[in-house]
Amino acid sequence: MRPADRLLQRRLIVVTGKGGVGKSALASVLGHSLVRRGRRTLVLEVDPRENLHRLLGVPPSGGKIVRVRKDLYLQNLKPRHVADWVVEQQVRIKMLVRRVLASPIYHRFVEGAPGLTEIAILGHALRLARGDLRGAPEIDTVVLDAPATGHGVYLLTAPRLFAETIGEGPFARLAQEVAEFVADPEASGLVVVTLAEEMPVAEALELRRALTERFGREPELLIANGLYPELPGRGVDDNDEGETSELWRRRRRLNVRQLARLDREWRGPRIELPLLPIDEGSELVAALGEPFDAALDDLEEP
Ligand SMILES: Nc1ncnc2c1ncn2[C@@H]1O[C@H](COP(=O)(O)OP(=O)(O)OP(=O)(O)O)[C@@H](O)[C@H]1O
Ligand SMILES: [Mg+2]
Repeated sequence: MRPADRLLQRRLIVVTGKGGVGKSALASVLGHSLVRRGRRTLVLEVDPRENLHRLLGVPPSGGKIVRVRKDLYLQNLKPRHVADWVVEQQVRIKMLVRRVLASPIYHRFVEGAPGLTEIAILGHALRLARGDLRGAPEIDTVVLDAPATGHGVYLLTAPRLFAETIGEGPFARLAQEVAEFVADPEASGLVVVTLAEEMPVAEALELRRALTERFGREPELLIANGLYPELPGRGVDDNDEGETSELWRRRRRLNVRQLARLDREWRGPRIELPLLPIDEGSELVAALGEPFDAALDDLEEP
């Protein structure tokens, strides 16, 4: 199956990578691209800084599902709200719910239990993708703009660890369900974003290694973002040997070296996207859409 088709079938696509490489921008680009390909899509953000709405050109979500355009939605999620929801599902008596949610023991559990945040995030994505969330629109694919902390591997391995450690109870059941969801290669996939620079590339390769070793799965796609294009306008009369063009050429050379490293060390589909002279916002996302779609369609079967 072609990589583009494989991505289209996933119910959950996790976009991950080192801080600042363009995860949020590309989660937005991917969201639009999936809609163009007929998938009803929700881009899920966990970052409390809330900046996806700027990239999608809508008001902040503040926890609610916001419609971006036909078949495209955005939500900023507070994992804590999901944990509270699990309690509400279990404890049907309103007064008791209030007591549990207010109790210091519950607070300590929610804040301290390793893996609970990850389960809450993925559990929410699962409910969205399954249509189990009351009042939510019908969604085919959830694109998760993964939190920048740690790397995507823990997000994916935490549910299984949690389910193994805590054998019973509502959180363990949710963990088990989520673990099955993310382990199913038909259901979920991982997209890694990197810059073609030494540290981000090293980290992307490390992420891939960890994912294969600890999770037994490989990323669906690698996106090398923010590439310096060839220096334009070097005609015969264009005798520009200034510092700016020298700087540009050096950055470009650095990119080329790192792409060569990826050629050697990264097996699997890769898309390359240019650094655009647009700083941020929906304009950037719109401008990246076309090269992204073209590159995705060009990818061959592995
Ligand atoms: N191809 C590109 N061309 C120009 N600017 C880009 C490109 N990709 C991303 N940017 C810009 O780079 C900055 C970082 O991008 P973004 O916020 O998407 O990264 P991130 O990986 O989500 O960061 P964080 O780890 O902080 O969440 C933003 O200002 C974004 O607009
Ligand atoms: Mg981000």
